[in-house]
Amino acid sequence: MSTLRLEELNAKYIIAANALSLKPGQAQYIAPVSYSAAVSVVNPDTAWQRVVVDDETDEVVGFIHGSFDPHADRDEFSAALWRIHVDARGQGRGIGRFAVEALADEARTRGFGALYVIYEPGEDGPGPFFEHVGFMTVGETPYGESVGRMSL
Ligand SMILES: CC(C)(COP(=O)(O)OP(=O)(O)OC[C@H]1O[C@@H](n2cnc3c(N)ncnc32)[C@H](O)[C@@H]1OP(=O)(O)O)[C@@H](O)C(=O)NCCC(=O)NCCS
Repeated sequence: MSTLRLEELNAKYIIAANALSLKPGQAQYIAPVSYSAAVSVVNPDTAWQRVVVDDETDEVVGFIHGSFDPHADRDEFSAALWRIHVDARGQGRGIGRFAVEALADEARTRGFGALYVIYEPGEDGPGPFFEHVGFMTVGETPYGESVGRMSL
């Protein structure tokens, strides 16, 4: 695996980020209902959006959207992973772990003690990935999604 770097999501990278591909069966897991229900547009005050770029090719290989809101009324919305997407061709090579670790580092720097994720359980879904990178299942939302928590 070549070196990876993180870049802010800006005009240069946004088209590539939107064009990341998925494997068959993965599309249904991309946007858990709880997040759509919480907010209809990305909030620029709380959003932390980065692309993962392969240093060798300068290509965007992944995208991560975190959210930091110290005033959130629910723990799972305080420091949260809202979306992660690794291009189908690059999956299984540590790119997702790299992105989650970067988000966890950012949360730690901002003084949060835990990072949360809400995701749809199911075959082809991201549950096993979240467990491998350090989230423990701590609950379920009213929509039947799993809530994962990582201590920082
Ligand atoms: C989930 C996703 C981000 C994982 O990214 P990735 O780059 O393939 O994951 P990594 O290669 O970094 O894997 C990290 C660890 O998780 C494990 N893992 C990843 N996917 C797994 C799966 N489906 N089943 C079991 N383990 C899995 C890896 O084996 C690895 O474990 P290890 O480090 O202990 O060896 C990627 O599959 C994806 O983009 N899926 C589609 C979008 C999606 O569902 N996003 C989540 C909801 S927004």
